[in-house]
Amino acid sequence: MPSGRYLLFQALCALFVGTQALPAHVLESRQSVSVLSPDQVAPFLPYAFYSSSASCEPALTLNWTCGKKCDANPTFQPVASGGDGAVVQYWYVGYDPVLKTVIVSHQGTEAEKILPVLTDIDIIQQRLDTTLFPGISSSILAHAGFAGAQARAANDVLAAVRVALTNFSATSVTLTGHSLGAAISLIDSVFLPLHLPKSTTFKTVLYGLPRVGNQAFADYVDANVTSVTHVHNKKDFVPTLPGRFLGFHHPSGEIHITTDDSWVSCPGQDSNATECTISYVPNLFVGDINDHPGPYDGVLMGCNK
Ligand SMILES: *[C@@H]1O[C@H](CO)[C@@H](O)[C@H](O)[C@H]1NC(C)=O
Ligand SMILES: *[C@@H]1O[C@H](CO)[C@@H](O)[C@H](O)[C@H]1NC(C)=O
Ligand SMILES: *[C@@H]1O[C@H](CO)[C@@H](O)[C@H](O)[C@H]1NC(C)=O
Ligand SMILES: *[C@@H]1O[C@H](CO)[C@@H](O)[C@H](O)[C@H]1NC(C)=O
Repeated sequence: MPSGRYLLFQALCALFVGTQALPAHVLESRQSVSVLSPDQVAPFLPYAFYSSSASCEPALTLNWTCGKKCDANPTFQPVASGGDGAVVQYWYVGYDPVLKTVIVSHQGTEAEKILPVLTDIDIIQQRLDTTLFPGISSSILAHAGFAGAQARAANDVLAAVRVALTNFSATSVTLTGHSLGAAISLIDSVFLPLHLPKSTTFKTVLYGLPRVGNQAFADYVDANVTSVTHVHNKKDFVPTLPGRFLGFHHPSGEIHITTDDSWVSCPGQDSNATECTISYVPNLFVGDINDHPGPYDGVLMGCNK
């Protein structure tokens, strides 16, 4: 659990932020929410399983014999897997012939393991590496831990995506992930388009996403990364961390699963609408870490969950 010192710090900062003039992107969040129909929720299911499979060992995802999480996407064609689950989060790349897209997925963490990197008062934001992100503005900053985790797998993932696109004559790439894996995949969604043919289309579907970068990062994602959706479950407080008072902001594209299991599309960045995450979890005390693994339309994150 986060330290008492951190909680006090967050409470004081929340009071302070509450008195500030509201910037435009907060005002935008006054737009209304919409509830997804069952037909709009159903297409997310394969991506929940793909996010979950990334917690399985690379030998299993490379063989696509990781049990029920792999079996749920039975036509998947694996291309490459990697990571050691310690320094480099597990990842895999392959092709889904039904969805006609290359899939990239990164391993998440259990909530207890991600909290320390999200609740450290000394959280550092850093520039994205200019070799991996040629031409990216120096104003764009990301959580140093997430940026480092993405960088350690970046070149291997890019090479595998190139092989998959060529081998399967594909033009679509879909990035998935849960928790830390969602954060890595969000940075991948900025990284991969800088290196792949302009004709490539991208889609990013994330679960239990913590805040990854600063306002410029969130604005870059909104302006330049197509089709980003991040699904937050009920009172999971990981998506509220690190706090906005530390300079972290979500891109648009939140879907919040409410306590009655409705999937609500939340407008703008960090929507304060009553049905959305910030209103559900105004502070860590009312959050529930048990909501972090899901279920997301019935899928609990983790290889054997
Ligand atoms: C790979 O799959 C084959 C058959 O699907 C199975 O016999 C073998 O044990 C699997 N290898 C690993 C490492 O799981
Ligand atoms: C390329 O695709 C074929 C099927 O079309 C598959 O059998 C083969 O394993 C693939 N190679 C790689 C590297 O994914
Ligand atoms: C989108 O990308 C272009 C090209 O790199 C850049 O000039 C622009 O500033 C980006 N938009 C945002 C909001 O960062
Ligand atoms: C969201 O913020 C706006 C701007 O301060 C405010 O007018 C609105 O009442 C807030 N909505 C909720 C549900 O808190």
